[in-house]
Amino acid sequence: MGLQSLSIRRFRCFASADLDLSSRLNVILGKNASGKTSILEAFYLLSRGRSFRTAHLDAAVQQGSAGFLLAARTISQRFPMEISLARQDGVLEAKIGGKAVKGLSQLAAVFPVQLLDGQANQLINGGPKYRRQFLDWGTFHVEQRFYQTWYGYCQALRQRNILLKANRPKAEVAVWDVELAKHGEELSEIRQRYLQNLCPHALKSAEQSLDGVPVSIEYRRGWPVGMRLAEALQIWAKKDRMLGVTHTGPHRADLAIRVNGRPAQEAISRGQEKVLAAAFLLAQADFYQRESRLSCTLLVDDLAAELDADHLRRLLQRISEVGAQVIMTAIESLPALNETAGAVFHVKQGNCHRMV
Ligand SMILES: Nc1ncnc2c1ncn2[C@@H]1O[C@H](COP(=O)(O)OP(=O)(O)OP(=O)(O)O)[C@@H](O)[C@H]1O
Ligand SMILES: [Mg+2]
Repeated sequence: MGLQSLSIRRFRCFASADLDLSSRLNVILGKNASGKTSILEAFYLLSRGRSFRTAHLDAAVQQGSAGFLLAARTISQRFPMEISLARQDGVLEAKIGGKAVKGLSQLAAVFPVQLLDGQANQLINGGPKYRRQFLDWGTFHVEQRFYQTWYGYCQALRQRNILLKANRPKAEVAVWDVELAKHGEELSEIRQRYLQNLCPHALKSAEQSLDGVPVSIEYRRGWPVGMRLAEALQIWAKKDRMLGVTHTGPHRADLAIRVNGRPAQEAISRGQEKVLAAAFLLAQADFYQRESRLSCTLLVDDLAAELDADHLRRLLQRISEVGAQVIMTAIESLPALNETAGAVFHVKQGNCHRMV
């Protein structure tokens, strides 16, 4: 889908900024501290309802204001939609077509974004939560039953953990095991099915990015192979009671990424981690677009950092092949971007102007 336009009010260093966007490559140019990443953050927030920079959204409200407003119009021949996200006096409100929506996941469904920034390496060298987030983004957008199952699982997990933390009797805790195991098994199956379909694309893209070195991905579901989740919950019930938290299940799942048969983080350099992570993220965006026949917006921050000229050129080429709407920041214009940009914006001291 992507966005036709985005209006930013009282957000970070911007009192007011209006961007009239291209459906292809949009370049945001500006010096350090001019507001480039803040604009990407606005796009991300509008899709995900949370920031990639802070857990405290009040930090994103322009200093001296009581709230921010992000409003956009999606690109769609059939159903162009007005979407907005407002934060006022600590309350977050999302609207689609002027109507308030309860779950923020509805915004993500109409305006999906993928972020490729300086933290993308965490997909390779960070903790399991980054790989789960990666997997769940795609599974959410492609597998219809994912959200309902994931939500049911999280609810049951929360209840079970409350009882464990309060040191409630064994039988009381076990009441939640049935629900947890049912949703957990299903969640795991949905994720594995998605990964199986994604893998041919993701591995091809990954191996190309590393000049043909073999790459593999394996789903680790969060409890031992050959065992039902209900059984695992029972076996480790004592440990859960000691820890005061459920420590088996798909909330502990991970992806084992190997390069040339070795754990990726041990086998490749930092620059390679960045191109490998980018290859996975772009393959996933590509896969989403093919499966849904809808467009995804790629937010690309500070791509040039840590990459030599050849890797940068190849990555820019790959980004353009995905055919998504791209919002890309740069400190100065690169010749490769000038040729392909549909729109170029310049940001300076909280002002944003379209140059091309
Ligand atoms: N809540 C806020 N209110 C006002 N200004 C803010 C707020 N939060 C951050 N800023 C300022 O916004 C400016 C822009 O920051 P941003 O990170 O977007 O810049 P950038 O162009 O991405 O810089 P760089 O090239 O160094 O990555 C910074 O000077 C920062 O201090
Ligand atoms: Mg920045």
